[in-house]
Amino acid sequence: NESFILSPSLLSADFGRFAGELADLEDAGVAWAHLDVMDGHFVPNITFGPPIIKRLRQKSRLFFDTHLMIERPERYLAEFRDAGADLICVHAESTVHLERACAEIARLGARPAVALNPATPLSAVEYLLPQLFMVLIMSVNPGFGGQSFIPFCLDKVRDLRAMINARGLSTHIQVDGGVTPENTPALVAAGADILVSGSAFFGHPPYGERLRTFHEAARQ
Ligand code: DX5
Ligand code: ZN
Repeated sequence: NESFILSPSLLSADFGRFAGELADLEDAGVAWAHLDVMDGHFVPNITFGPPIIKRLRQKSRLFFDTHLMIERPERYLAEFRDAGADLICVHAESTVHLERACAEIARLGARPAVALNPATPLSAVEYLLPQLFMVLIMSVNPGFGGQSFIPFCLDKVRDLRAMINARGLSTHIQVDGGVTPENTPALVAAGADILVSGSAFFGHPPYGERLRTFHEAARQ
């Protein structure tokens, strides 16, 4: 199955014109926007939080795919949901109460998802799979855009796909970090169905054409 959703990461967009970038994405036929929230503690970088997302929500109908790279995200789940996050993804490494965080995201009416850093084993999410909309396999160490894809993450996607299929579940697999049109065919073949792209997407306008390049790559 070669179909997947491309979720462009705003980390590589123009921070001075987020609303315009979202409008451009919508015009280009993109459906999702990946919002990277960083707190300077869980990762060595700082981006933006609920107030910015709230303002963007008023100007965009894109699906807000919200990737929280913050310590103890349970403190802010309601705020992100109120701001308009459609999906809230928390890192397994960022909280000792992962199940509670995921249950809370679902209770708030958002899609619950868990992200795993490259070195974190799949067993961290194994028992949670039935209650997750998506698992995010990080294919770089989070914090910055423009890094290279870590090759073993492809095996991790394949193993997670097998785990999900063996259980008869429909959990989505997202891959984030160093995704390009070149590695898209392998990722989709391994079982990923949502791909995040920052630098390889925003660095190659116009966005509509770039979206097609990703999708055509998967058809080769
Ligand atoms: C990394 C972020 C990614 C990042 C991906 O910490 O979670 O979403 O923006 O950027 P690229 O596609 O440039 O690796
Ligand atoms: Zn991300």
